[in-house]
Amino acid sequence: MPENIILIGFMGTGKSTIGRQLSLSLGYPLVDTDQLIEERTGKSIPQIFETEGEETFRQLETEVLTSLAESKHHVIATGGGIIGKEENRQLLRALGYVVWLVATPEEILNRTSRNTNRPLLNHTNPAETIRNLLAQRTPLYQATSHLMIETDQLNFDEVITGIVESARYYFSKTKDS
Ligand code: S3P
Repeated sequence: MPENIILIGFMGTGKSTIGRQLSLSLGYPLVDTDQLIEERTGKSIPQIFETEGEETFRQLETEVLTSLAESKHHVIATGGGIIGKEENRQLLRALGYVVWLVATPEEILNRTSRNTNRPLLNHTNPAETIRNLLAQRTPLYQATSHLMIETDQLNFDEVITGIVESARYYFSKTKDS
């Protein structure tokens, strides 16, 4: 077990913020699949969607995940749509302990409306897009994750402590088996 913690979940559920704090608490480096894609292509996510399309972006996500296969003791934050492909779901589970961050559609809309760097929500009716994508993706997040955390129900420290303690327990069990 490579003992990574992988954060999955919809846009605006706090993967980057929680990832940064987990990285500090555990002393594990943080990697972010969106950021790796931007570094490797030299383009921003909106530029990739605009010039090459979503399919190319999804291919890049798989490439980045594959390249992380040897990572150990990392916190890995991912883009919200990474669970769309079966291949990615398997890669994510093989990487370590997968934590699914959940927020209400209202909270997601509130958090994502603050910036325009998410091409999938840059439309006239982001609330409807959020509802539709959540309906499609919820079973996939569920199937991929070891732990689900409802971020709206807990304060920030509780979220971090909950993840750290559950991951430690999981890693200790998988070591024994
Ligand atoms: C996407 C989520 C984004 C980014 C891209 C597509 C998605 O990441 O990967 O805009 O399909 O949900 P965040 O979840 O970090 O916003």
